[in-house]
Amino acid sequence: MNIAVIGTGYVGLTTAISFAIRGHDVTCLDVDHAKIEQLKNGILPIYEPQMDDAFRQVQEQHPIRFTSSVQDVAQDHPLYFLCVGTPSDTNGKADLTYVIEAIDTLKERIPVSNDHKAVVLKSTVPIGTASRVAKLLSVREDLIVVSNPEFLREGSALVDSLHPSRIVIGTQSAEAKSLMDEVYANFQAPVLYTTWNNAEMIKYASNAFLATKISFMNELARLCERVGADITMVAQGMGLDSRIGGEFLRAGIGYGGSCFPKDTAALVTVAHDHQVELSIVERAMRVNQSQTEWFLQKLNVDDGDWHGKKIAILGLSFKPDTDDIREAPSLAILKQLTGVGAKLVTYDPVASYHVRRLYPAVTYVSTPYEALDQANVAILVTEWKELVELDWTRVHSIMKSPVLLDGRNVWPVEELRALGFEYTGVGR
Ligand code: UDX
Repeated sequence: MNIAVIGTGYVGLTTAISFAIRGHDVTCLDVDHAKIEQLKNGILPIYEPQMDDAFRQVQEQHPIRFTSSVQDVAQDHPLYFLCVGTPSDTNGKADLTYVIEAIDTLKERIPVSNDHKAVVLKSTVPIGTASRVAKLLSVREDLIVVSNPEFLREGSALVDSLHPSRIVIGTQSAEAKSLMDEVYANFQAPVLYTTWNNAEMIKYASNAFLATKISFMNELARLCERVGADITMVAQGMGLDSRIGGEFLRAGIGYGGSCFPKDTAALVTVAHDHQVELSIVERAMRVNQSQTEWFLQKLNVDDGDWHGKKIAILGLSFKPDTDDIREAPSLAILKQLTGVGAKLVTYDPVASYHVRRLYPAVTYVSTPYEALDQANVAILVTEWKELVELDWTRVHSIMKSPVLLDGRNVWPVEELRALGFEYTGVGR
């Protein structure tokens, strides 16, 4: 099928590449000329493992076309997937400016025809957006609005897109349903057809639930420390119950990224607009916001004398396998540690470049061992594989004092204590 993907951010590019891999003819449209030129030259503007190779192969075998001219997608495309950004405004509300702009453009530029075309909302949008968009398009009977939320995770975006846990499609139109059936014919996943509002709610509810699961464990971790229990063992025991499930029970220094913080805030705002209190989600957000502060109490930053000491901060991206630092716990940590008088030295395999612009006074090094050399304490912020599997004998020999703060509960605690490290995790 001929598919136009509008917006070449994370969701847009992943969607485009996975559709091309599944045999569709894809054209990507973006108003950002520089980005389109970069993509035409085969350069992906995002860091995502496996995506580079997949992109290269697609461009050799079944190329995606890139354009910044609406004219190029206005004809012959029965499907328009909207993947533009919906950033939070100052009140936590999702800002729909880019969505509305794209809809206005499509309304004006796609020639009226007898064939139905689907305008598919893949961007994460507040409940009620599809029906709002349908009103904007009410003069165009040939354009049908569909909601089709995306559930991909950064770091495994392409795999998630090619092998989704489920495909949720909000539409009441038979024509749209048959178009969407064809789009997803080569994807093996349960397909749930439902209403616009249900589809939009499923996306927010899923992210809010996962965020709540994490905050539940993070709060429980605080109690585990007081009563002498180990949250990792508690999680293991809980996860064996299939009603609970073993995933997203990892306590740590809190969740970050472009989705959980933004989507929980947006859901709570929608609830307030409808005079409903989502107290559980609000509490989950508050626990997350206080998690790095709670964690750093272990360092005694207020009472301790950190002048002239060195703190190694390992990992800056909000999770491994991405260079994304949006809402990353590392930023909260740097903010709290700036001013305590210590020398902050950080290492991250890919994300330093982005953090440097925000914290130019911090030192950024190119190996974890440079960060650990003569450090008084090391804090694990992001569980990159190379930071989980350090050469501990070497680390012990180069640190000034062998004090480890494991913000992800992934370092081998028994081995480390046997080697003489002073180890502190989260809730253990
Ligand atoms: C999330 C959702 O998983 C995805 O379905 C949605 O489309 C977008 O938001 P993403 O933000 O890319 O994806 O990453 P995810 O792997 O879900 O992790 C989110 C955050 O939660 C990370 O900061 C991670 O470190 C943290 N996390 C995850 C925990 O702290 N504990 C866990 O057990 C799991």
